[in-house]
Amino acid sequence: MVQPIQFAGEDRSNATRKTLSQAEPLALRTFTPSQAVFAKSAGIFHFTPEGRKLYDFSSGVLVANLGHNPRRWMQTFCRHMGWMPEHVAGGETTGYFEAVTLTAYNAMTELEATAVERLIKNLQASKGGSRCEQVMWAASGSEAIQKALWACLHRDESRDIIVATRYGFHGKKGLAGAVTGCETDQDRDPRVKFISFPMQECDDISKADDDIDLSKYRAELDALRRQYGNRINCLITEPYLGGGGSYHPQPAYLQMLEEWCRANDVILILDEVQANFGRTGKMYAFEKYGIEPDIVCLGKGLGNGVPVSAAVGRADLMGSLKYGEGSDTWSANPLACAAVIATLDEFENTDVLEQTAKLNDVFVKGLTRLKDTGLIAKVRGEGMVFGIECADAGGFSSKEIASKIVEKCYLGRDGVGIHLLGALAGNVLRVSPPMTMTIEEAHASLELLESLVRELAVSL
Ligand SMILES: Cc1ncc(COP(=O)(O)O)c(C=O)c1O
Repeated sequence: MVQPIQFAGEDRSNATRKTLSQAEPLALRTFTPSQAVFAKSAGIFHFTPEGRKLYDFSSGVLVANLGHNPRRWMQTFCRHMGWMPEHVAGGETTGYFEAVTLTAYNAMTELEATAVERLIKNLQASKGGSRCEQVMWAASGSEAIQKALWACLHRDESRDIIVATRYGFHGKKGLAGAVTGCETDQDRDPRVKFISFPMQECDDISKADDDIDLSKYRAELDALRRQYGNRINCLITEPYLGGGGSYHPQPAYLQMLEEWCRANDVILILDEVQANFGRTGKMYAFEKYGIEPDIVCLGKGLGNGVPVSAAVGRADLMGSLKYGEGSDTWSANPLACAAVIATLDEFENTDVLEQTAKLNDVFVKGLTRLKDTGLIAKVRGEGMVFGIECADAGGFSSKEIASKIVEKCYLGRDGVGIHLLGALAGNVLRVSPPMTMTIEEAHASLELLESLVRELAVSL
């Protein structure tokens, strides 16, 4: 058994790390050198059982876009569930109180009707969302991808080929795993054909406005068309490569994919599981990139922490599945619906997207300054989702430097640290704090990050 990570002076955290490393398989976690234990969270901070405060630079992997336990969001959520304090406290003798059911499998709730209407209205009011006619709910991002692909494949079973952009991340399960990565990964599904994503053209934020030569990307698509003709069913891509290392392409690339799909009657699926709800600076990434997907997959920030996801798209595609073919225990469960309504309320009635634009300025400058430390080679990102690519330094590989930065930030100084995830693609650190951070907090957290990275650089 692998020994659990332990840190001096963290008795309670260490005990939790030990229990979980014995009672749960290693595979349940992705490797993060800090293995932080959270006792409580509020806004942009997590608190360890020892009482240290950590700036959350991950938002729970781009989930808590509105911060942790936002008070007004929670009030809306509880109100929709019927969980106001007077209901829960009660004092009746029955042991039960009347509230929205937690389970509505094979039944319906008015809450679900409100959530679906609100979500479709919000998507259709966004430029590029007009094909968002029906919502196929799910519980995790990979399930939403799986359901989107099922819908496409059922449309016409003679059309079995799925095109996917290489080094994308769409999840690990089923068809979501099949469209993730590249053709040289093991046990590939022969129906999936990968095309190139313009990574070199956007490997640093300084290239964001460069022109891009699309001819070779178009040629790959045309070659597939010549080889497989009408068998090509759909094309799936992320707007930017998230898990693949934070590569944010020039919009012209995605627009070219859309144009090719339309010209060849190929369904365009946009995986916004990570990008949705403001991460790119727009409510949906399809607005930012100027495209109109046939199906958009939503997740993570959709419930701000309550597990919920959805594939939303053309009714004719969703309608290709018969009774039961998209159903499961948790899809459209009332908790999820209440969370979606509460999250939509915040995005529709607050200035969170304006705040994201202001934060973007501060983060681009602050993260770019890290290049001066010699430990960061490249910075990529948009809105409030960034990747900082580590450099080889002091005889250590960029991968080792990434691990050292995560640990150094976790330990922080004077009881305050920064929570970072283990690296993407080996050496890229994800920076994606809640978008409700204040400008003062943004400056303070970036100053702490810079001084910790500088201190590390000097110590190597
Ligand atoms: C773009 C994208 N799609 C799909 C997924 C899979 O989501 P889940 O882990 O909820 O299955 C992720 C998760 O990181 C993702 O980033």
